[in-house]
Amino acid sequence: MLGEPAQPKMRSMTAFHTIIEPFRIHSVEPIRMTTREERIAALEAAGFNLFRLKSEDVAIDLLTDSGTGAMSRDQWAGIQRGDESYAGSPSWYRFEAAVKHLFPFKHVIPTHQGRAAERILFSQLGGEGKTVPNNTHFDTTRANVEFTGARAIDLVIAEGQDPTSEHPFKGNMDLGALELVLSTEHVPVVFMTVTNNAGGGQPVSLENLRGVRALCDRFGVPLFLDACRFAENAYFIKHREPGQSERTITDIVREMASYADGMTMSAKKDPMANIGGWLALNDDRLAERCKTMLILTGGFTTYGGLAGRDLEAIAQGLEEVVQEEYLRYRICSTAYLGDALADVGVPIVRPIGGHAVFLDARQLLPHIDPLEYPGQALAVALYREGGIRSCEIGTIMFGRRPDGTEVPAAMDLVRLAIPRRTYTQSQLDYVVEVVGHVAEHADELRGYAITQEPPQLRHFTATFAEL
Ligand code: F0G
Repeated sequence: MLGEPAQPKMRSMTAFHTIIEPFRIHSVEPIRMTTREERIAALEAAGFNLFRLKSEDVAIDLLTDSGTGAMSRDQWAGIQRGDESYAGSPSWYRFEAAVKHLFPFKHVIPTHQGRAAERILFSQLGGEGKTVPNNTHFDTTRANVEFTGARAIDLVIAEGQDPTSEHPFKGNMDLGALELVLSTEHVPVVFMTVTNNAGGGQPVSLENLRGVRALCDRFGVPLFLDACRFAENAYFIKHREPGQSERTITDIVREMASYADGMTMSAKKDPMANIGGWLALNDDRLAERCKTMLILTGGFTTYGGLAGRDLEAIAQGLEEVVQEEYLRYRICSTAYLGDALADVGVPIVRPIGGHAVFLDARQLLPHIDPLEYPGQALAVALYREGGIRSCEIGTIMFGRRPDGTEVPAAMDLVRLAIPRRTYTQSQLDYVVEVVGHVAEHADELRGYAITQEPPQLRHFTATFAEL
């Protein structure tokens, strides 16, 4: 008698070494190729500020991962379904349910992007004489706090400011420092940015969130999340924090939310939309004041300055971003870029963050003083040599204090932010080649001086001259 036919050995796809993009391309956008001469002319016309370039003159745009990702088929289908009723649209209810599924706060207030949520919240909680601690404020968050007259302070753990430290949760808050601030200053709210964008896209652990929550409880101060990259943070928790590996991303996200009293959000990041955001919170009275501000400046409470179709795209994006397959690809493709850059000798912030690889410009360009902006020198060179647009996250962005004086920022980094589901592996290979080439010629780069700057958020519009 013949035996059972041998079963072919089956391996799940994840058992193979190559991690593939869990999607295929449905619609393409052309990239315009430019010459070095054209790029030099474009830089001069832009006053050497990469924000002032025409995006058509950029080959690989790593300026930001904000609103620049590719939407899915189902998000575009949602765009068609969008209902533009002024009040109570079904698209609003779908959006609200998708937000509350992950972040079960009592009130959800839609806004046109993250900073609109920040502005509304800090208009109510900020003011002279107050201090807002955060692990690290992002630029618009800091500016919105300072605009009200309050002080914004960054209390990330010491490892979070050391580009070489391999600490798994470099976004964590320094609990001792937070306790000191809570006991000596007037703190209306504590913020935690997950992941910590300005600090290198580094995650915050559940354990640290619990510690911050306990301190907030002791001092009777609310805790808010700046949750732009919450899903990437949850993925890091799943893979790095003891005891978390069997949980779903959704479950971890809900636990993160459970420690907070509210959140601000940019839907242009992990919710995978091109526009949008929200403020969510439990406090009824504060919510009422915030909703009034929204109606005054953004729109009615069921659309908040967004079109109904945008609300649909966000709701769908929230379902897609917590999928493990997507997050594995996302985190691993960012790590692929970072590891390849490290292999060719480029100093980067370690461990590699979720949405971006951060180049350590201060280490690569020790001959350029921080006040002559090594990050700018590197970012300009990446564009000039290879048409790659990146973003300085250093002394230009954070070095100017509210009184107008200037100090070196904690780090001088250049961020290569990866738009979600947008660039292929060969495009990332090209980035590695260009950055490697620039790094080989690092000693030829020169610093910059600012020729004109506004009093706030100067990195967006300042102009520069090469020294
Ligand atoms: N908070 C964080 C941590 C951010 O990264 C951003 C935006 C915001 C708030 C503001 O959100 O842009 O929707 O108003 N970061 C983008 C970036 C711009 O490039 O990292 P927004």
